[in-house]
Amino acid sequence: MISQTLRPTSEIATTKTLDGSLAFVIEAKPDAADISRDDLLAWISENRTWLEEKLHRHGAILFRGFKSLSGADDFEAVMKVVCHKLLDYAGGTTPRSAVSGKIVSSTDAPAHLTIGLHQEMSYLEPSEDLPDPTPDKVAFFCEIEPGGGGQTPLCDMRLVLERLPQDLVTRFEDKGLILTRQLPATKEAGYEVTWPTMFGTSDRQEAEAFAVKRGWRLEWTEDGGVRVFQKPSPTTKRHRVTGEKVWFNQAHLLHKEYAPWKGDFLGPSADQKAVADRMRPAMAKRFFYQSTHADGSKIAIADLETIRKTIDETMTMFDWRAGDLLICDNKLVSHGRQPYTPPRKILAALAADDR
Ligand SMILES: [Fe+2]
Repeated sequence: MISQTLRPTSEIATTKTLDGSLAFVIEAKPDAADISRDDLLAWISENRTWLEEKLHRHGAILFRGFKSLSGADDFEAVMKVVCHKLLDYAGGTTPRSAVSGKIVSSTDAPAHLTIGLHQEMSYLEPSEDLPDPTPDKVAFFCEIEPGGGGQTPLCDMRLVLERLPQDLVTRFEDKGLILTRQLPATKEAGYEVTWPTMFGTSDRQEAEAFAVKRGWRLEWTEDGGVRVFQKPSPTTKRHRVTGEKVWFNQAHLLHKEYAPWKGDFLGPSADQKAVADRMRPAMAKRFFYQSTHADGSKIAIADLETIRKTIDETMTMFDWRAGDLLICDNKLVSHGRQPYTPPRKILAALAADDR
């Protein structure tokens, strides 16, 4: 039952920015931590415009200390009030599993792997039907806080664009980007994304139909996998509301140079390294992402290194606490994942703004 009178923000929460993180934090005051979920949802609904302004200024908002938020159902309820339209993850590049409704696991990638910072689905190409195909918001909910590490680093991509050398930015804007993926039918390593997972179906005809809608070409490989040839995707982008320009692509991650099978993909022990060495040639053929410029020419590795260094130097992070709910503007801010010691359960949701 929603209360008749909404409590003012100052009675419910304190607001601040965390040291070392760009997120704007809305933390429950001790005597408001027990506010019911319905009352919290009503307060969020009433303050949507203010929350949107904070999100656009800071790039991310962290709700902390509200005891009525404890699981996937609470997370989904908040996101439906904030955004109205939650999205499916089909077309993505990271292994995930469905949790409930539109809520998914943030990633099923093995705990020892670092996931580089990225704006969700920034490699999707705009079309006439979908001029802005990437989610407006990506949100996370901490159901079980990590045993150690496991932060979700955040990076302001307005700053990254400002800090990148102008000649590199011009080169990318002039030459464009295109992504090719090789996806296996079944999973042999934890980091792999199978084509049935990516397309959300194990039916080849349905996968073909999905591809046609996106303008992708598919080539089925002898081992049951598929190669996906995409259309040119953005390099930079202007934010729909604020008009600010951001660096907006994942060439620094979706490239064979940085493929997971190049590193210790099974783990750091001598035994794991030895097995990984034996598996590597086969793994390299099964699953990869490769970015080139739009004309098919190679991207200079020096450029990719400059981008990775700039993002590393600009990123910020905070430690998760159980019940934390983080909403990121997916255009302004990129996110990643640090390696962790189990347990850790972070849920994710993607959302589109009202147009
Ligand atoms: Fe992500």
